[in-house]
Amino acid sequence: MAIVFVTGSGGLIGSSAARRFLELGCEVVGIDNDSRSYFFGPSASTRWMVDELSESRGYTHYSVDIRDMDSLERIFTKYSSALDCIIHCAAQPSHDWAAKEPHTDFGINAVGTLNLLELTRKYRPNAPFVFTSTNKVYGDAPNRLPLEETPTRFEISRGHEFFGRGIPESFSIDQSLHSIFGASKVAADVMVQEYGRYFGMNTVCFRGGCLTGPAHSAAPLHGFLGYLAKCAITNTPYTIIGHGGKQVRDNIHSDDVVSAFLEYIRAPRPGATYNLGGGIENNCSILEAIEMIEKITSRKISISHDPKSRIGDHIWYVSDLSKLKSDYPNWQITKSLEVTIKEICAAYQDRFGAGKSSG
Ligand SMILES: NC(=O)c1ccc[n+]([C@@H]2O[C@H](COP(=O)([O-])OP(=O)(O)OC[C@H]3O[C@@H](n4cnc5c(N)ncnc54)[C@H](O)[C@@H]3O)[C@@H](O)[C@H]2O)c1
Repeated sequence: MAIVFVTGSGGLIGSSAARRFLELGCEVVGIDNDSRSYFFGPSASTRWMVDELSESRGYTHYSVDIRDMDSLERIFTKYSSALDCIIHCAAQPSHDWAAKEPHTDFGINAVGTLNLLELTRKYRPNAPFVFTSTNKVYGDAPNRLPLEETPTRFEISRGHEFFGRGIPESFSIDQSLHSIFGASKVAADVMVQEYGRYFGMNTVCFRGGCLTGPAHSAAPLHGFLGYLAKCAITNTPYTIIGHGGKQVRDNIHSDDVVSAFLEYIRAPRPGATYNLGGGIENNCSILEAIEMIEKITSRKISISHDPKSRIGDHIWYVSDLSKLKSDYPNWQITKSLEVTIKEICAAYQDRFGAGKSSG
């Protein structure tokens, strides 16, 4: 039976990937040491998800740190003869948290990725290697685009070439402020590309916009749609940080992210990079997201504003999906922003609604 490695298997994207591969009849080896609870506290722990996955036939879990090369190598030696592909989603994922512990952030995001690339090269060089990169590789360069302010959002100027399309992969990743997180992801992104170009391996970077879905263990510093839904359902105040809440993100359901992975795995291209978000049809500002969530949950969120924006925060970021759609014409977005938010609210109602306390 085909074996798939999924790092970060308790997280949003890792768990969605693990479930999809299990449905396809693969054996899934999940690697996740619940570092998310170390980053964001016990309420962001992904252990509940690992517990759920561990009940599935075909799922085997290793609570191993991707910085621990020896433990990783033991897993590769055990399974590599039947290893089909590697889905690498384990990360320190927060722009803001990274500045607290740059060594931890770089160790996980950059060196952890190198560990996995090198073991793949040693044990299964032809296996597709999917890396979840980020739009933060472009740093704050998108903030230099000409933007216009409307009552609820920032919008790119009509005359600009990205209007109606979003930001393409050809946008520079150089000469901008990335945040410590963005810099560790750039290191990993370039290394993943290099293992494709230099060694000819089937590696790909998917540079995520806002990846979301009901499986997120959302926290104030990561997973804003999930966290907003949680605030609405649990009556928790929410603080909008900077830009008056008019900053725009494009949002994609984790199921559609995993579908893109599958398309790549079926026809891999060495060293590829793709922007992957909700695209022009599925973007919203924080203010617009709050309005949608309040409407769907029929609850008012208590909002306050912190006028000081996060360092390097994107003001308007929308992924141009045309390269991905051109290389993989079977891929498309199947869940609109509205459907995605409804799914998140329903799942969070189940997990955190009246009388519930876990998740
Ligand atoms: N969610 C987003 O909006 C978004 C946007 C762009 C890029 N990404 C990228 O996509 C990937 C997945 O994101 P996500 O939202 O699923 O994150 P997540 O935090 O939900 O999942 C990551 C998982 O990795 C695990 N992990 C962290 N460090 C580890 C380590 N050292 N060893 C083993 N496991 C470890 C965590 O415990 C967590 O369960 C990440 O690489 C992230 O940078 C996410």
